[in-house]
Amino acid sequence: MMYKVEAIVREEMLEDVKAALKDIKINGLMVSQIMGFGAQRGYTTFVRGQEIDALMKPKIKFEIVVSSEKWRDKVIQTICDVAHTGGIGDGKIFAYEITNAVKIRTGATGYDALQYEDDDE
Ligand SMILES: Nc1ncnc2c1ncn2[C@@H]1O[C@H](COP(=O)(O)OP(=O)(O)OP(=O)(O)O)[C@@H](O)[C@H]1O
Ligand SMILES: [Mg+2]
Repeated sequence: MMYKVEAIVREEMLEDVKAALKDIKINGLMVSQIMGFGAQRGYTTFVRGQEIDALMKPKIKFEIVVSSEKWRDKVIQTICDVAHTGGIGDGKIFAYEITNAVKIRTGATGYDALQYEDDDE
């Protein structure tokens, strides 16, 4: 079974999480800058006398597709270890089952699409 791990972390965790995932030798990842809110549902605040909606906070989203449950759990554990501060807003991790993957260059599908080849950069 293939899985996608989607991890929303603090902006300042970008470099550390990326480095930790490289260290465990995952074969690919996506990173996006997103906006969102969690359990606190944001709040309103005053900036220079103006009430502003601070509902949405900038966050970083990592997406990693892996080819086994073992890798899924390893990726989750790695991100938890690195991105944890113990404070509100540390982030969330979601995992999904993936039904297929295709490597466009070779036509490889499923498990094979996610494997590293010797001639890969
Ligand atoms: N239920 C959810 N559905 C979709 N995205 C979520 C959900 N909960 C959190 N997120 C995303 O994760 C980000 C960080 O969430 P956050 O860490 O605040 O979660 P939390 O459950 O409120 O935990 P904490 O109590 O530690 O703040 C949010 O900005 C949002 O992008
Ligand atoms: Mg929160």
